[in-house]
Amino acid sequence: MTKQLLLGQTLGFSGNPLIGDWADAVQFDSAGGVLIEGDRITAVGNGQALKTDHPDATVTDYGAQLISAGFVDAHMHYPQTGMIASWGKQLIDWLNTYTFPEEARFGDPAYAADVASRTLDLALAHGTTTLTSFCTIHPESVDALFAAANARNMAVVAGKTCMDRNAPDDLRDTAQSAYDDSKALLEKWHGKGRGQYAITPRFSPTSTPDQLAALGTLWGEHPGCLMQTHLSEQHPEIAWVKTLFPDARDYLDTYEAFGLLGERGLYGHAIHLEDREIARLKEVGSAVVHCPTSNTFIGSGLFDMMGLAKAGLRIGLATDTGGGSSFSMLRTMAAAYEIGQLRGAALHPAQLMWLATEGSAQALHMQGQIGHLNAGAMADIIVLDLGSTATIAQRFEKAHDIWDALFPTIMMGDDRAIADVWIAGKLVSRA
Ligand code: GUN
Ligand code: ZN
Repeated sequence: MTKQLLLGQTLGFSGNPLIGDWADAVQFDSAGGVLIEGDRITAVGNGQALKTDHPDATVTDYGAQLISAGFVDAHMHYPQTGMIASWGKQLIDWLNTYTFPEEARFGDPAYAADVASRTLDLALAHGTTTLTSFCTIHPESVDALFAAANARNMAVVAGKTCMDRNAPDDLRDTAQSAYDDSKALLEKWHGKGRGQYAITPRFSPTSTPDQLAALGTLWGEHPGCLMQTHLSEQHPEIAWVKTLFPDARDYLDTYEAFGLLGERGLYGHAIHLEDREIARLKEVGSAVVHCPTSNTFIGSGLFDMMGLAKAGLRIGLATDTGGGSSFSMLRTMAAAYEIGQLRGAALHPAQLMWLATEGSAQALHMQGQIGHLNAGAMADIIVLDLGSTATIAQRFEKAHDIWDALFPTIMMGDDRAIADVWIAGKLVSRA
């Protein structure tokens, strides 16, 4: 089995830095090492000690660069790659004007394959080693993404987006076809390679109660799958949900009533939650996913990171591209920091890095496997250059500790800060 030893500064976590003192959760070594055997990390520790103990390992010395688990994007839309940064609309108009016409193209397998490959390569270039994506209503769009992920040996979570109302004719399925197609796709892709299937009702405005019920039944039959959707993103959307589901207690109830609330549920945005919704999400152990660049770009609102973390919710971090305006989880962390500031809570760099790795991995129920710089995890690893641009480098030079050195890269970094990317023990960034 091939043995690789990466030397550099290493950053990992032994706990959740959003709870209690962040410092208790951090594992940092300024002269660290990561031993990889085959596709897994088998040891993290002092670099020189690992070198002495494993003289047969091939050494890559990253000097003062920072070795971290790869970023985990817990919610995005790969079919929106081609319309990212489209101007001037809020959620419902944005969907109708830009999103749906682009998504209608994904019935063409060649187009879907092209965008799937492009998106995964963009993600990797930005240090994202796992992403969680909505596809389109077309089964071809799901095949394209999982095939592209398997070709790269990436752990990807995805599912067919289901919509049987309030969408254009060419983007609507039915309750039955959504059930049948999702079932066939999850049987084909869940657990194939590193793929995980997520049953995917887009959001309750675009699904009839019949469709939500069919997908709830499917999830009940396949409880090992994830379920992803959107929740309480914008006020007009929430008001619309109230008119569509007059009997529901709140937005979350439109999922709960149909079997779509569960521990393996991922609820994107979750900005304007009511107390009952927070209590139920906590009780069930579901995850909410913070999409900060999207929430500012589409004008949705300010996610309550600290309030929801204190309430004990699982929280992941995500780009939500193309509603989000960047593929970079660094830029996403920066936006999370800015939104925190607007709510009076300055998130520490350790908390931001945890959210982008361990937090998202926990949301996906893949903790210990990905987003984790510790023995036993898959060797999905990134190396950050902490002086990647002239602006960042001149600030980095004045840094007094690792957090002061890392924070300028979080706030101002992008794909130029990603020095190397390893997937399952293989260097892919210089392939
Ligand atoms: N709500 C329903 N669909 C979408 C989508 O594609 N993007 C975002 N940001 N919100 C949604
Ligand atoms: Zn989304």
